[in-house]
Amino acid sequence: MSIDVIPLNTYFGAEIRGLDLSQPLSDTDFEAWSDAFAKYRLLLFRDQHFSEDQHVEFSKHFGGLEDFVDSKDQVNSHTDILRVSNIWQDTDAIKPVDDPGHKSFTLGTSGWHIDSSFRKVPGKASLLFAIEIPPEGGGTGFADMVSAYEGLSDEKKAQCDELTVIHDFEEARRRYGLLPRMEEIRVANPSVMHPLVRTLPDGKKCLFLGSHTSYVLGMEQYEGRKFLDGLNDWTTQEKYTFFHDWNEGDLVMWDNLALMHRAMPYDLESHRRLLHRTTVLGDGPVV
Ligand code: OGA
Ligand code: MN
Repeated sequence: MSIDVIPLNTYFGAEIRGLDLSQPLSDTDFEAWSDAFAKYRLLLFRDQHFSEDQHVEFSKHFGGLEDFVDSKDQVNSHTDILRVSNIWQDTDAIKPVDDPGHKSFTLGTSGWHIDSSFRKVPGKASLLFAIEIPPEGGGTGFADMVSAYEGLSDEKKAQCDELTVIHDFEEARRRYGLLPRMEEIRVANPSVMHPLVRTLPDGKKCLFLGSHTSYVLGMEQYEGRKFLDGLNDWTTQEKYTFFHDWNEGDLVMWDNLALMHRAMPYDLESHRRLLHRTTVLGDGPVV
């Protein structure tokens, strides 16, 4: 099959045409896919129809998959497919907006973030597939931390290159006004340190930010917060972002370490939204 790669934006993102994901992936197609992924960091496939098993299967070409611990969040007991949804799986009803788990997921995904940046080894890519999409809103935004780093002044780059940032799951919860999780959960998930600037396999550099950033090592807390918020604003300016408006049958795969992402608002109470996500495990600590 011949694959076309059509850029979506100036700096990142491409649509892939000519791949039917319900068919087994040949070595040549996988190579074209992974080359395009390394180059564009976000890939969109439209009009796809594939089973849950197939979603797992093509995702696994990129590495082992994350397991999602809570069975309520899993798709039909696939431990490695996450339901991203405002619909209960068992009753098919819309979740109440104040259901605690739903509320924390909705708030948590509404700000610019990197999935599990609060872990030593965050996932390296996610593959999100649209099944039911609201008539208005409910898109997903992506911000490119590679081109955002490249756009910084030389002094700012040099300053960022030296910094280490503490990431903590509780930070985003505090900001969204959610109560801290139970003590044993907090103790089992201590904050982690990541460099503010990552080097990609091809030698390019990128910022490593997101809503789980808590403070900058060695900087007064408020100054560090202002500094991180400034970088967040810089990275999420129009030229470094892409907002995807979903159609049913769209699959978006993105580099979780090089892009931040966020869910866009929609009418949670009266419109249904269901996507399925697989996440490819990271190869090691952020470097
Ligand atoms: C996620 C996430 C964004 C969205 O699943 O981690 O941030 O638009 N989703 O649902
Ligand atoms: Mn997310």
